[in-house]
Amino acid sequence: MEHIDTLKALGLFDARVPRYTSYPTAAVFSPATNGAFQKAALESLDPTDPVSVYIHIPFCERLCWFCACHTQGTQTLGPVESYIGTLEAELDLLRRTLPEGLRMGRLHWGGGTPTILPPPLIHRLAKAIRSVFPPAAEFEFSVEIDPTMVDRAKIDALADEGLSRASIGIQDFDPKVQQAIGRLQSFEVTRACVDDLRDAGITSLNTDLVYGLPHQSLARIEDTIDKVLTFAPDRVALFGYAHVPWVSKRQKLIDEDALPDDLARYRLATRAAERFVDAGLTAIGIDHFARPGDDLALALDAGRLRRNFQGYTADTCQTLIGLGASSISRFPDGYVQNAPATAAYIQRIEAGEFPGARGYHMTAEDQLRARAIERLMCTFTLDLDDLGAEFGPPAQSLAPALAAMAARFAPFASLEGGRLRIAPEGRPLTRMIASVLDQHVPEGVRYSRAS
Ligand SMILES: C[S@@+](CC[C@H](N)C(=O)[O-])C[C@H]1O[C@@H](n2cnc3c(N)ncnc32)[C@H](O)[C@@H]1O
Ligand code: SF4
Repeated sequence: MEHIDTLKALGLFDARVPRYTSYPTAAVFSPATNGAFQKAALESLDPTDPVSVYIHIPFCERLCWFCACHTQGTQTLGPVESYIGTLEAELDLLRRTLPEGLRMGRLHWGGGTPTILPPPLIHRLAKAIRSVFPPAAEFEFSVEIDPTMVDRAKIDALADEGLSRASIGIQDFDPKVQQAIGRLQSFEVTRACVDDLRDAGITSLNTDLVYGLPHQSLARIEDTIDKVLTFAPDRVALFGYAHVPWVSKRQKLIDEDALPDDLARYRLATRAAERFVDAGLTAIGIDHFARPGDDLALALDAGRLRRNFQGYTADTCQTLIGLGASSISRFPDGYVQNAPATAAYIQRIEAGEFPGARGYHMTAEDQLRARAIERLMCTFTLDLDDLGAEFGPPAQSLAPALAAMAARFAPFASLEGGRLRIAPEGRPLTRMIASVLDQHVPEGVRYSRAS
């Protein structure tokens, strides 16, 4: 039975481990690292080093039951417009704090649903951002788009503001699956959105899919993949459904009896991955695929693929500045998350305070382990000599951890001359293997499944 029995014996189906979009993970952030750390980190940025900027829009018109993102429902634009005013005030706070001459290399709008913004608010927000963060010579702008919550006028407004990559949410096209996750979205509406994006000159397209959803079968996911491939996406993100109803209360609406079991879930992930690779896409890390020639595939080849809060990225900026409720900033020596609840975030900004509510100040040891985990998640290998080139002799202190990984995860992990390698059949274990390096496993936190 393929390698499943060995993967199972190694605990794949029982493990609950982080996704390692950061190390340490947000679960260990503490209120001790807050707005004061954020202010000092912003003040001391090197103005010659461009930054990435992330803007969180925590609103949706529909609230899909499966969704674990930080968002809230609204049927009117009042709260959205007022939130844009708060973002402008946060930008103003940054203007007074950042060093002169800092440039923006990347801009990403996520959510929630950024395309809930009508064209005038799109222009207003884009202008406010540019006035604080002038774009660098090389600049990319990406936005998460809900195809049911966008029209040609919004796409044209985003294109006018320099949108270079659209990321559209699909999840699954099957009506029964869509019904079970409380998210209806026809192929025709999605196709029209893709056509509008191309017509408006947006050349790069990412599609989000999810495996492990209720009632999903191999036939259903293959049908979704056939439809997605007609869009000729440059990138595909294939996320494993994280069922965390204790965090995301709306997931209580999901019928747990209809969720695929461990084996079915594993088969959905492997079949979907095979289909994308057969279609000519390159597998990127644990859950992305990219057209050869796309920057993500080029970054993988060139050894500059990175992992951040949005998943895999070719972004090499050292600093990511997150604005808006719940967004996380990554500074050279740590993380800060803005107040997660929208009301609390607004309150802080209105009081003229920095909105950082919790975070983590990294030690040198954390920096080394963060890079090691990132390498594993990006390349399925970890080379102590490579780490040594960046961190010097302390890199060798990880040698016992590498030996422990190879011993515990044989035959899928092997160690040769200071280089740990995860075999292709062992890749579903990557998050578990990376967790051996994790020195900050918080008590009482329940992560989603490893598989
Ligand atoms: C913030 S959502 C934005 C998508 C956009 N609002 C839409 O609906 O099209 C980004 C992506 O996160 C993924 N996602 C959300 N909840 C998830 C969950 N519980 N498990 C796995 N992926 C999830 C989905 O693929 C979704 O498209
Ligand atoms: S999937 Fe998108 S539209 Fe649905 S609740 Fe999540 S963020 Fe909102």
